[in-house]
Amino acid sequence: MMRRRLTAMAAVAVTGLLVATGCGGGDESGSKSHKVEVFSWWTGPGEADGLAAMVDDFKSGNPGVEFVNASIAGGSGTQAKAVLASRLQNNEPPDSFQGHAGAELLDYIKAGQLEPLDSFYGQNGLRSVYPRQLLDQITYQGHIYSVPVNIHRSNVLWYHPGILQEAGISGPPASVDEFIGDLKAVKAKTGKIPLSLGAQWTADHLLESVLLGDLGTDGYNALWKKGADWSGPQVTKALQDFATIHSYTTTEAASTDWQGAAKNVVEGKAAFTVMGDWAYGYFVNPAPNGLAKKAGTDFKWAASPGTDGTYLWLSDSFTLPKGAPHRDGAIAWLKEASSKRGQDLFSPKKGSIPARTDADKSLYTGYLGWAFEQWQTTKLAGSFWHGVTANNKWHTDIDTAVGLFLQNKDAGKLQSTLVTAAKNDAA
Ligand code: GAL
Repeated sequence: MMRRRLTAMAAVAVTGLLVATGCGGGDESGSKSHKVEVFSWWTGPGEADGLAAMVDDFKSGNPGVEFVNASIAGGSGTQAKAVLASRLQNNEPPDSFQGHAGAELLDYIKAGQLEPLDSFYGQNGLRSVYPRQLLDQITYQGHIYSVPVNIHRSNVLWYHPGILQEAGISGPPASVDEFIGDLKAVKAKTGKIPLSLGAQWTADHLLESVLLGDLGTDGYNALWKKGADWSGPQVTKALQDFATIHSYTTTEAASTDWQGAAKNVVEGKAAFTVMGDWAYGYFVNPAPNGLAKKAGTDFKWAASPGTDGTYLWLSDSFTLPKGAPHRDGAIAWLKEASSKRGQDLFSPKKGSIPARTDADKSLYTGYLGWAFEQWQTTKLAGSFWHGVTANNKWHTDIDTAVGLFLQNKDAGKLQSTLVTAAKNDAA
């Protein structure tokens, strides 16, 4: 996907000035734009800070509009997506909700739950400020359906340099096999947690990095095509590796979300975690919400083992549901989320890079400076757990398979369930 160019598109950076026309609606009281209910799962440290930065800017630009933050706790939307599905089913949509670009968004589009945003894009000059192939991920039958706010990277290995040193490990592992060796060394030599994970979804998240690490970019990408064969020996090896890697985590981890799992690393309790770059925002944001940690001493990062040179990407995007009760408020929110200013406020706190290609690069330092460069130069693979390659049904079926695996630890059964899921769910 996406070959991106950071061309300055100053001429089109006029979002926020243009007034959306032809958008009827208003709310039940007849007044326009006095409220907007925005739905996401960004409640916890790190992600909530990113949202707050954009909301503050929205409020100052829209003084008459009440912002209702309808976020539901649970990393990667584990709870929120279920609540959202029932709200949409009952025709009680929020005014705008967060959905991932790609297969996840396509589900909502195909269910007829979203309004196309073609005229919004036209009026706000947006077609030229997003990478072409990102637009492809949010376009269906010629119509655009969401506003991407950022790009996250899923395949990041965060590690504690001091623990690696104690274990006699000279640097981050370059392959899955090396990773397994390092986990073993940490266990044998340090008494620290080799791999920190949290709630079940963090194992799903780990799985995509291990699949990518073992199958390579083309092999991983091929898994998501219709008719793909999940029964081959490479997948067998990857799932066996996944089982081995998973055996180096702790069982109590399951009670925490990604923040708790990630915190163990920067506090020197665990050597490694594999987590998306939202962890970076949490690590470096100032206290009390952020952990105010320093890259280099408290933590370091690398591509997850065996995935150097590939960006396992995902993109958060906001939508306009059909029947949004405060449609004008929603349009105002989409303007914020699509604006260069909004994105440059959001991403540095969120731990992502902006989806727009004309962002202010100087704001992205440390890990984010690296991410910015990597995004220009690496190959791309779509995250299945965060909605790019797997639709909601497939996503749920993989999660169920992983949940069973966490109980029976049987990589063979995991593979046969994943084979069936691919047969049933690939669109
Ligand atoms: C992802 C989402 C990110 C971040 C993460 C952890 O699905 O795209 O923005 O919120 O979950 O909750």
